[in-house]
Amino acid sequence: MCGIVGAIAERNVTPILLEGLRRLEYRGYDSAGIVTLDSRDDRLHRLRTVGKVQALAERLQQEPVRGPLGIAHTRWATHGEPCERNAHPHLSNDSVAVVHNGIIENYQELKASLIAAGYRFESDTDTEVVAHLIDQQLRNNGVDLLAAVRQSVAQLTGAYSLGVICREDPERLIAARAGSPLVLGIGIGEHFIASDVFALAPVTQTFVFLEEGDIAEIQRERFAIYDRSGQPVERKLSYSGQMGAAAGKGSYRHFMLKEIFEQPAVVAETLEGRVHQGRLLEDSFGPEANAVFDQVQGVHIVACGTSYHAGLVARYWLENLGIPCTVEVASEYRYRRGVTPLGTLFVSISQSGETADTLAALRATGARGYLSTLTICNVAESSLVRESALTLLTRAGREIGVASTKAFTTQLVALRLLALALGRRRGLSESDLAAQVRDLERLPRVLEEALVLDSAIERLAEHFAEKHHALFLGRGPQYPIAMEGALKLKEISYIHAEAYPAGELKHGPLALVDADMPVVCVLPKDGLLEKVLSNLQEVRARGGELFLFADREVDTHLSGVSTHVLSLGAVPESIAPIVFTVPLQLLAYHVAILKGTDVDQPRNLAKSVTVE
Ligand code: G6P
Repeated sequence: MCGIVGAIAERNVTPILLEGLRRLEYRGYDSAGIVTLDSRDDRLHRLRTVGKVQALAERLQQEPVRGPLGIAHTRWATHGEPCERNAHPHLSNDSVAVVHNGIIENYQELKASLIAAGYRFESDTDTEVVAHLIDQQLRNNGVDLLAAVRQSVAQLTGAYSLGVICREDPERLIAARAGSPLVLGIGIGEHFIASDVFALAPVTQTFVFLEEGDIAEIQRERFAIYDRSGQPVERKLSYSGQMGAAAGKGSYRHFMLKEIFEQPAVVAETLEGRVHQGRLLEDSFGPEANAVFDQVQGVHIVACGTSYHAGLVARYWLENLGIPCTVEVASEYRYRRGVTPLGTLFVSISQSGETADTLAALRATGARGYLSTLTICNVAESSLVRESALTLLTRAGREIGVASTKAFTTQLVALRLLALALGRRRGLSESDLAAQVRDLERLPRVLEEALVLDSAIERLAEHFAEKHHALFLGRGPQYPIAMEGALKLKEISYIHAEAYPAGELKHGPLALVDADMPVVCVLPKDGLLEKVLSNLQEVRARGGELFLFADREVDTHLSGVSTHVLSLGAVPESIAPIVFTVPLQLLAYHVAILKGTDVDQPRNLAKSVTVE
């Protein structure tokens, strides 16, 4: 992870770099730094601070750095604790400056040989070797900066994107990409690099996405890109449509709350043009997709984090419609020797489209005999979208809060559309299809109703603020929703939370239940209701305090069971997992507020994990 940004221009680039860092902060925020080459004294000026980008902005007020060439970085620590010494940019001999996103796996052996050659290391990072390697190439081999970077990256193993500048070469910014995202922003008489397009939104809308192994030589008036073998290549220009999106919180206190409340609107966006009056508009998937869907015998879903939970819900939906489905976290899948039955569609799910493990899983599919690859993704310009044969875009808009909310519910909508398209080919009747599409069309309104519970949930949250643990229960497709609810609580309130299928409670977790263990359960009206109610009796009998989110029609079954019940109205079963997600998001949010944590940027986490 980490975010990198760089610029070469006539003007002072510091404000561009600082704004870029603010926009990249979702990628990491334990320290930040900037280096510019100041044309007034032809020296590199570096400033680094621990903490968020705002801390760097405040230091810059007191100790301004400026110049027409610069690179900057916001860090999510991998090698070396978050401290100023380990913050980027890293320098070698006050001549070469480097920012890096990713991991250099062979840094220890490189470090040993650089130390033997007389280099002194100031940090514990893997990145510093890159700065010294480039410096070594410049000094020993008498090559220019481009060649020095090329010869240096040839020695690196791992995933990285790099921005490099050099004191002796004020007309050049060098960028390299291998395994971590990097985009080149095209301006008039100025050029930029960044980890994503959003970082450069204020300065350009024209981009070139670097491909694996590319090295770019960037000057004010021109740029050249060289592929892995050093040959000049043309990469196509892209124009980003995301640019207008404001990064503001509006009237909300946090991005997370804003994003929770955006869900009815972005769900409607995601459905737009794909369903209409009870009909699934299959043409919206594209002609290639329809031809592939005709041949699908089964589905393998691979994802990480919250996106993985979306995949787990989809398994219930797909298998219910007769489509075999397996779901796996990408970090396991990529190193496991799997068996791919004939006619299997590989589906990756990702908000960012840049998660390193998910991308590596997609890249591993080549040798595994899949029918095709499809990604469900929220970022049209992302690596997963560019490398998958088929794409189903969620239209959640930019998600800033690190804990994913609207991306998850729109992923579920996309998965529901996929399940219905495949289900229709497995004999789902036209009338059942129409009924389920109508449920989806009602979803934005049902979500609005769920959001009305906000203040009731705020009050409920008080019961959790002093607790150290919580259990989340669900059955069927609500089990992954319980997992997602537990994850949200862990991520932002730092309360330890576990999810269990309610039927599994008696095989262990029941031993933990006492008055100090809140037990949260989602209770839609479905075929498993009676079973879940019995499981809840088991909790009550052991003195556990229950917090139930229930379908209105379930209320009548609850006498004698419940402690705290919040009713969601009547929720159609086919969309219940999407709707019951909302109160769990709100619960995590309000508990985090009571605990005073950093809701949008919880400790140790990052929005997009582009390292393994
Ligand atoms: C990180 C984020 C999670 C996200 C996961 C997968 O851990 O903090 O919110 O679910 O990455 O990210 P993706 O972009 O692939 O959905």
